[in-house]
Amino acid sequence: MTLPPAFLDELRTRLPVSEIVGQRVRLTRAGREHKGLCPFHKEKTPSFTVNDDKGFFHCFGCGAHGDIIGFVMQHDHLAFMDAVEQLASQAGMQVPAPDPRATAEAERRKGLHDLVESACAFFQDALEAPPGRSARDYLRGRGLDGETARRFRLGYAPAESGALIKHLKDAGYEDAAIEAVGLSRRPDDGRAPYSFFRNRLMFPVSDRRDRVVAFGGRLLDGDGPKYINSPDSPIFHKGQMLYGLARANKAAGRGHGVIVAEGYMDVIALVRAGFEGAVAPLGTAVTEDQLRLLWRLTDTPTLCFDGDEAGRRAAWRAIERLLPMLQPDKTSRIAFLPDGEDPDSLIAAQGRQAMKDVLGATVTVADLVWRQELTAHALETPEGRAGLRAGLNRQADRIGDQTVRDYYRKDFAARLEEKFPWRPGGRRHSNARSPTGLSGARPRRPRSADLNLAKVLLATILGHPALFAEVEEELAETRIPDRSLDALRGDIILSLSTDPTLDSNGLSAHLTAHGHESVVSRLMSDDRVKPVLSATLEEARAKWADYFAHRGHERARADHRRAWTDATRHETQESRDRAKQLGAIVARRPENLDDP
Ligand code: UTP
Ligand code: MN
Repeated sequence: MTLPPAFLDELRTRLPVSEIVGQRVRLTRAGREHKGLCPFHKEKTPSFTVNDDKGFFHCFGCGAHGDIIGFVMQHDHLAFMDAVEQLASQAGMQVPAPDPRATAEAERRKGLHDLVESACAFFQDALEAPPGRSARDYLRGRGLDGETARRFRLGYAPAESGALIKHLKDAGYEDAAIEAVGLSRRPDDGRAPYSFFRNRLMFPVSDRRDRVVAFGGRLLDGDGPKYINSPDSPIFHKGQMLYGLARANKAAGRGHGVIVAEGYMDVIALVRAGFEGAVAPLGTAVTEDQLRLLWRLTDTPTLCFDGDEAGRRAAWRAIERLLPMLQPDKTSRIAFLPDGEDPDSLIAAQGRQAMKDVLGATVTVADLVWRQELTAHALETPEGRAGLRAGLNRQADRIGDQTVRDYYRKDFAARLEEKFPWRPGGRRHSNARSPTGLSGARPRRPRSADLNLAKVLLATILGHPALFAEVEEELAETRIPDRSLDALRGDIILSLSTDPTLDSNGLSAHLTAHGHESVVSRLMSDDRVKPVLSATLEEARAKWADYFAHRGHERARADHRRAWTDATRHETQESRDRAKQLGAIVARRPENLDDP
């Protein structure tokens, strides 16, 4: 039953989205919008917004989106008409009699669904009948038994063109409808319509509600494309559908990983091997709509590609599509199959453990971009290394979400520094942050923090995580000559940049969970750190500033010594000037170093 659009408009106008949502979700106002924790997926920070002007809600986390009716349907698990009834009574409106034209359209779509369902049953029956024998043999040859055929509703489209059409017409469906869903073609010369799928093994494609909406048909023998797929129709849009979607949706809800393979047979093999979250696009590369669909199932679907050159190219194309779309927490991992295998052949040859191993060895999107750029530049030259950095930044810049973009830049910078240390030994950002502003002229030895001072610094952050935002860079630059303390330093940075709201206890819990318990407790019981643990935030801040001023002064002193050595070796006006300038800086008190 379909309602007149004017009634629905009036209903939407009378009931602000924030009111309907606000009755079910705690919302806070944020400018022109309202914000809250999304009721449709688990989250800790609100990415769910409600906009009364536009009349919709939207979740940047899971992509849930819709108007008041959609919200009530999803939230209260109601059918459309029930949601409308409920909202209408709240708005003091009468639900009108349905609009005949809209009703006709809804009837038509319903009719198309029934028609395709009926065709699916016909193909299934045909697989069991005598002409389906070659298809049955083929299935058996590929290790698929009758039970599997029934489970996936596999079928057979007979070679004889009229059979399906006659069956459907006998069941009362019109030529036009059969043609509309792509099951028949009408020749230009006025002859009778013929079946689109002939002598093919049939794979029904279901929508999210598990209604059959289309088919893929595999060639059994003879010439022609290996697979043909139903054309788009009023109930099927290839780029917005995935083979196996309904099952994967349920499986994801039970905690299964979502795996994107290439073909029908791959999905079937994966599901049979226990990977129930398997889906495949329908003969195309994964589209943006399909990625959004996947993100409603899980934050991190795994995309599988062949291990050969073609597979790597396909993976790269997928990454290019994915980058602009990345959102906080929404990403994907990439799995590469052994050369020459697809999931179906791998599982057939080596069993499910082999597939498990493949899925356990995935790489991240950032890994893949990094690898791709590494191979694209001549890294033995400075120009090539500059090209690498520019290329990485260009890729990061394609990311639409600012936070994700920032973290990609950070990640790439760290990888670059690791691979091509700006200074041998790798102290980061040292040029930009040099207190003299002159030290870039010559490589300097990396500087490690004195061990005891380093303990005090770490304890300062452990006791006062609120300081982190101010001292993050300095902490990142400081290398500690003790492996477990330096690892602790790394995880402190990671924990606090991931969750800046952690307090001292929360941070300790995090670090304990990451295996630092004994280092932390040893550190905390060290007599030298007691004073900083009992210090106020202000005192801790001052202590930190003292230390770095001191260290900056040390650095300037070393630069000065070196500049003099330079100047005496090859005396130029420039080197003399530089040494003089540095001398002047060293002569100043440490606290003045930052504003020479
Ligand atoms: P593949 O050629 O990799 O086939 O196509 P496959 O899935 O491994 O099938 P088998 O194992 O040979 O039976 C992957 C997917 O690409 C689409 C189909 O969706 C197929 O499942 N495809 C392939 C087409 O749409 N048309 C074609 O001609 C070939
Ligand atoms: Mn295959």
